Amino acid sequence: NLVAGVAHEINNPVGCIIGNVDAVQNSINDLFGLIDLYQEELPQPSPTIAEELKTIDLQYLRDDLPNLIRAMKDGGDRITSISKSLRTFSRADSDQKQTFNLHEGIDSTILILRHRLKANDTRPAIEVVTNYGQIPAINCFPGQLNQVFMNILANAIDALDESNNGRTFAEIKANPNCITIQTSVENERVKIAITDNGKGMNESVKQKIFDHLFTTKAVGKGTGLGLAIARQIVESTHGGKLSCNSVLGEGTEFIIELPV
Ligand SMILES: Nc1ncnc2c1ncn2[C@@H]1O[C@H](COP(=O)(O)OP(=O)(O)O)[C@@H](O)[C@H]1O
Ligand SMILES: [Mg+2]
Repeated sequence: NLVAGVAHEINNPVGCIIGNVDAVQNSINDLFGLIDLYQEELPQPSPTIAEELKTIDLQYLRDDLPNLIRAMKDGGDRITSISKSLRTFSRADSDQKQTFNLHEGIDSTILILRHRLKANDTRPAIEVVTNYGQIPAINCFPGQLNQVFMNILANAIDALDESNNGRTFAEIKANPNCITIQTSVENERVKIAITDNGKGMNESVKQKIFDHLFTTKAVGKGTGLGLAIARQIVESTHGGKLSCNSVLGEGTEFIIELPV
């Protein structure tokens, strides 16, 4: 399990960075304190020092450094949570089922897809709304179900990106790209509904989406395997049901149902 191994290897160096950032902050405070002391004891700087003070803009340094350090710390924390998500996401699938919190799987998948959800030059960020109900942990193959979440969410992002063609940034902002994930328990089944307000599908596409190798995407972009695999995982492996509702030009909903 390469990914989990790499994620684990990243933890030590990142821990080192996060740990040292605090120490750096303390050292900088000491150094600024020393400068204050110099200025009190020697209020008249020599011309060389006065010149240097102007060049480096001491007051600005003093105001800005804490922000820089906080940003580094946030970056480190983010790497930690991504590495944690990678490990959750790629949880080794033994031949035994395991008890798994589906919300954890969904959250880690969203984190891994974050680079695709972020704002870019042509559109604002895609909003992801999670509407989690009270659902029990279920006995399943976690890595495989994460693969299902990944395939469906990646398709939703593709559909949103395609729906943006020909719309300006402002138009998209007024009617934002959105993915909603809702979970609930109904009739002894956990139900996960993943909805996008992307381009939707017509009836003839909808008939074929679960077929092996069916894709409407450009060569190199689509493989046509994502939903075929997802259906196999949900239905054959887990005894659940994967279904789809879609309206052309309005959006699409995938519903995953799994026995509790
Ligand atoms: N959320 C969605 N909105 C619109 N179309 C979708 C969506 N999800 C899947 N599709 C359609 O189903 C097809 C098959 O999906 P998939 O099996 O994941 O293959 P791929 O993504 O490689 O094309 C896609 O090419 C697309 O036409
Ligand atoms: Mg796909």
